Amino acid sequence: EKDIYVLGIETSCDETSVAVVKNGRDVLCNVIASQIESHKRFGGVVPEVASRHHVEQVTLIIEEALTEAEVTLGDLDAVAVTEGPGLVGSLLVGVHAAKALAFANNLPLIGVHHIAGHIYANHLVDTLKFPMLSLVVSGGHTELVVMDEHGSFKVIGETRDDAVGEAYDKVARTIGLPYPGGPAIDQLAHEGEPSIDLPRAWLEPDSYDFSFSGLKSAVINTLHNAKQRGEEIEASTLAASFQESVIDVLVGKTMKAARDYGVQQICLAGGVAANKGLRERLSTACEEEDYSLIIPPLSLCTDNAAMIAAAGTFQFMRGETSEMDLNARASFPL
Ligand code: KG4
Ligand code: ZN
Repeated sequence: EKDIYVLGIETSCDETSVAVVKNGRDVLCNVIASQIESHKRFGGVVPEVASRHHVEQVTLIIEEALTEAEVTLGDLDAVAVTEGPGLVGSLLVGVHAAKALAFANNLPLIGVHHIAGHIYANHLVDTLKFPMLSLVVSGGHTELVVMDEHGSFKVIGETRDDAVGEAYDKVARTIGLPYPGGPAIDQLAHEGEPSIDLPRAWLEPDSYDFSFSGLKSAVINTLHNAKQRGEEIEASTLAASFQESVIDVLVGKTMKAARDYGVQQICLAGGVAANKGLRERLSTACEEEDYSLIIPPLSLCTDNAAMIAAAGTFQFMRGETSEMDLNARASFPL
C-alpha cells in the first residue's frame, strides 16, 4: 500500500509547531517554536502576543519542517491543522496557513480537535487498542475519554472548575515560581515530603468528574495561615503535598473508570502527562492491575504538531476532510 504523508500544524496556544508524519506513526520531523520566554514576564500567555508570534513564525516553520523531513510539497497527501479549542487569534493563524498550503497545492484540508491530537500522540508510541481510556490532563483540560474505535470519543468525566495544569500554574504562582509552574512544582515535589494534609475532591462516588479549585484554595490558605502565625512552610513540602493530592485523585478515578468500562488499554495525554510523579504512579497502578499503558515521551506530551498530524491521518483515512470555510473554534466539544 501507498505511504501516507500528512503535514500537521498546531498553533492553539503558545507554541508554533509543524510536523510531517508518515502513515500516522513515523514522525519525520516535529518542529516546535516555543514562546515561553515572551510570556514569562507576564506570568502567563498573553493572547495578542501569542498570535503575533505565530504570524511571524508559521511560514518559516513550515519550510523548516519540510526541509528537516526531506519531503517536498508534492509528497504530501493532506494538511492537518488544529481547529480548536484554544486561543482564537492563535488558532486562526494555523488555520489560515493550512488553508493556503492546502489550496495552493491542491491537498485535502483536515481540521483536528486539539484533544484528539493529544490522545493520538499515544499512537506515535504504540498501536492503540480499543476499548481505550485516556486521561487527558493539560493547561485547559482534565478529561477521561473512552474510545471504542478510532475517531469515537466519549467524555465520561471532566473538571467542574480548574484544569489540572491551571491549578499547577496557579499554585506555582502562589509559591512564587515562574510560569509555566507545572514543571517547577513537579521538580520541587520530588525534593519534599507530602506531609501537609490537603483535600481530595472525590465528588459523588460514581462520578468521573474532577474538581481542583478547592485544593488550590487550600494551598493558598495553608500558606496564608502559616504566614499569619509567623511560621515558614517549605515550598517543597507544599509542592509535594499538592502533587500527592492531585495524583491520588487522577490515578484513583482513572483506574476505577478502566475497571468500570472494561478497557484494554490506558493512555496518558496532555501537557501535565509530562509530570514525573503522575507517570510513576499511573505506571505502578497499571502494572498492579495488569493494564496495558502508553505514556508518550515528554516531547509529545506538550503541544506539538506531530500529534495533530497523527490524528489527522486517521481522519484522512476515514475520508473526514474539511471544507475551505474551516474556521477556528475557541471552544469545541470533542
Ligand atoms: O497540553 P499543554 O502543553 O497545553 C495545553 O493544551 O494546555 O499543557 C500545558 C500545561 C501547563 O499548565 C503546564 O504547567 C503543565 O501543562 N505541565 C506540567 C508539567 N509540564 C507541563 N504540569 C505538571 N507537571 C509537569 N511536569
Ligand atoms: Zn495541549
